[in-house]
Amino acid sequence: MTFTRRILLCALASAAAAVSIPALAAKPLTMGFSQVGAESEWRTANTASIKDAAKKDGVNLKFADAQQKQENQVKAIRSFIAQKVDVIAFSPVVESGWETVLREAKAAKIPVILTDRAVNVTDKSLYVTFIGSDFVLEGRHAGEWLVAQAAKNPGKKYNIVELQGTVGSAPAIDRKAGFADAIKGNPALTVVRSQTGDFTRAKGKEVMEAFLKAQGKNIDVLYAHNDDMAIGAIQAIEEAGLKPGKDILIVSIDGVKGAFEAMMAGKLNVTVECNPLLGPQLMQAARDVVAGKPIPKRITTVEGIFPAELAAKEFPNRRY
Ligand code: AHR
Repeated sequence: MTFTRRILLCALASAAAAVSIPALAAKPLTMGFSQVGAESEWRTANTASIKDAAKKDGVNLKFADAQQKQENQVKAIRSFIAQKVDVIAFSPVVESGWETVLREAKAAKIPVILTDRAVNVTDKSLYVTFIGSDFVLEGRHAGEWLVAQAAKNPGKKYNIVELQGTVGSAPAIDRKAGFADAIKGNPALTVVRSQTGDFTRAKGKEVMEAFLKAQGKNIDVLYAHNDDMAIGAIQAIEEAGLKPGKDILIVSIDGVKGAFEAMMAGKLNVTVECNPLLGPQLMQAARDVVAGKPIPKRITTVEGIFPAELAAKEFPNRRY
């Protein structure tokens, strides 16, 4: 082989290497994400955060909206397994019934990340991490705010109605438990009615109408498991000729802009924050998991409590 020919072959070989190494390194991570639905302002912000973060990080996101149905989530997860995605993430609509499909993902060696809501499984190796809020603590914060209010009016009794989230969902179960725990043993505070409003404005309004019909004026407090149901209930209270935020104290959870607007209008008394902006943490966790780095089993989001007095000052800082 001539010297020139050898040089030419070397140059071709290194050019091929230069092409193939970055091409391998740049292979985008593919994530299948099954979202609960689009039931609330919170959920819309959560979906936007995940889509934006995926775009920014160059993650190839396969997004499926389950329309609040567990069977749709199971189908989506099975389809992600069939497509051999690198990682599956999902926000489970309810807590139970996930073992079978999660075992299928494990058998296919696809790591699963839970976001926002937890699953109730005995085998914790079925998921790598759970990123999201402490819902029990949120419920407890709501209850503690009410206990402090009641302490300002000794002797007064408060009848509480509760709008629960989706039946069987982690936030509904935990927020109910946290609130009950905070008010336990307080003779001034009694939950007189408790029913699901499925985390939506429409259902929140409908159930509040039924509460008002059944209780008449004997409602002092509404505890809603999310802001959307509280906002729906505010309409029902106004239509019944009562003043939300005054005749009936309103305590809710999420901290979305709609709740801040209601607080500034004097119609809602406090919202406990639940942060939906989980996208960046999710993408980071996915990259670490796929790279084989160890990650914590539980990643908790840090959140605040916003009473109406702080609403106007805080409103310009709200991102959802
Ligand atoms: O899982 C989080 C909850 O789901 C939010 O509080 C609620 O608004 C949403 O629909």
